[in-house]
Amino acid sequence: MKIFLDTANFDSIVKFNEMGIVDGITTNPTLLSKEKGNPIETMKKIVEYVKGPVSLEIVASSFDEMMDEGLKLAKYGENAVVKVPMTSDGLKVVKALSSKNIKTNVTLVFSANQALLAAKAGATYVSPFIGRLDDIGHEGLNLIKEIVQIFTNYSIPTQVLVASVRHPLHVIESAKIGADVVTLPPDTLDKMIRHPLTDKGLDLFLNDWKKLVKDHPDLKF
Ligand code: G3P
Repeated sequence: MKIFLDTANFDSIVKFNEMGIVDGITTNPTLLSKEKGNPIETMKKIVEYVKGPVSLEIVASSFDEMMDEGLKLAKYGENAVVKVPMTSDGLKVVKALSSKNIKTNVTLVFSANQALLAAKAGATYVSPFIGRLDDIGHEGLNLIKEIVQIFTNYSIPTQVLVASVRHPLHVIESAKIGADVVTLPPDTLDKMIRHPLTDKGLDLFLNDWKKLVKDHPDLKF
């Protein structure tokens, strides 16, 4: 399963990219609004730095304006993916962009029917928002199970990109279901790295080494 970082924070992107654990980036207007500086420059900088796919969201709502924005965003780099909202005009945009070999990510997906239609239109990725379903008392992960099953049944090539991920358990469960990608905030990725027994075990090893240094003062690797 691929891991994408759901952020527009450049420092976080560099931090996790250097660990070799990030396959791509997803951004949206809300994430960009949390960062200082010009959002267009931020998006261009991320696309240039990251080797993997970077989703950049269009903000217009009519077909013509969405197409105009999508074509411009696609020019930011070969790894740019145009993020399109799950609307009727959005589906038209996905069809038109995919016929030009431009990659798309259909966002704000909350049902298996929406995912199926986005795939039909030619989406490269569909982004079901599981945390927001959990928030209103639905089991977000059930939606991932449904979409993965449907796409498997018909060998649909569109990738299931699990979004609105809130905690590490969402990641484990998505991987068990067989989702293609999970995009997660930097703090969730941090939580995946850490374990209290790792910290405890490391303290013990380092303390024992200090004892050895006491007995052998010129100890060196
Ligand atoms: O990838 C979509 C994500 O940014 C939305 O997350 O936590 O606002 O539902 P959230």
